[in-house]
Amino acid sequence: MVTLLLTLACGGGEPPAPAAAPASAPAPKPVAAPAVEVGPDGPASISVPALDAVPSDPAAIEAGAKVFADRGCGGCHKFGEKLVGPDLNGLYARRTLPWVERMILDPAVMVKQDPQAKEMFRSLMVEMPKQNVSTEELPALLAYLKAQGG
Ligand code: HEC
Repeated sequence: MVTLLLTLACGGGEPPAPAAAPASAPAPKPVAAPAVEVGPDGPASISVPALDAVPSDPAAIEAGAKVFADRGCGGCHKFGEKLVGPDLNGLYARRTLPWVERMILDPAVMVKQDPQAKEMFRSLMVEMPKQNVSTEELPALLAYLKAQGG
């Protein structure tokens, strides 16, 4: 009688078999972000107007001066002197035209993906904010930058 109770209390059965190990599938490889090839024109993912040249007519330069002032570019940039951002003198001598367009239209992406923008960010520790310059305003702004010595 005592033996029977003990047997019942213990369940009396075999311990459950361990769950079968899942069929061994190859471990998923971590997905590396595809390396973005960025040339001297900056990341192609930022689409920019294809311009043959920077406009140089006085009307464009004047319109560009207004965009530069309205968007607050002058709060961070000067020509001939570094302010919060780099000195814009000689800009077109060190950068290609599509690169300058991309930097103005989408600085956040540039700073993450473009080696030259990354390098400036590393040394200045300030990220240029996007100023919402439209593609219509851009050529005039580029004209102003050039006329000022960029
Ligand atoms: C809050 C400060 C700030 C404002 C406002 C600003 N920028 Fe910048 N800009 C920077 C910084 C900082 C960099 C360097 C890249 C970085 O660190 O993000 C830069 C980089 C640039 C470059 C590349 C310079 C080079 O030597 O290659 C150009 C061109 C430029 N800015 C134009 C503009 C224009 C045009 C505007 C106005 C629409 C503007 N920026 C507004 C801070 C600013």
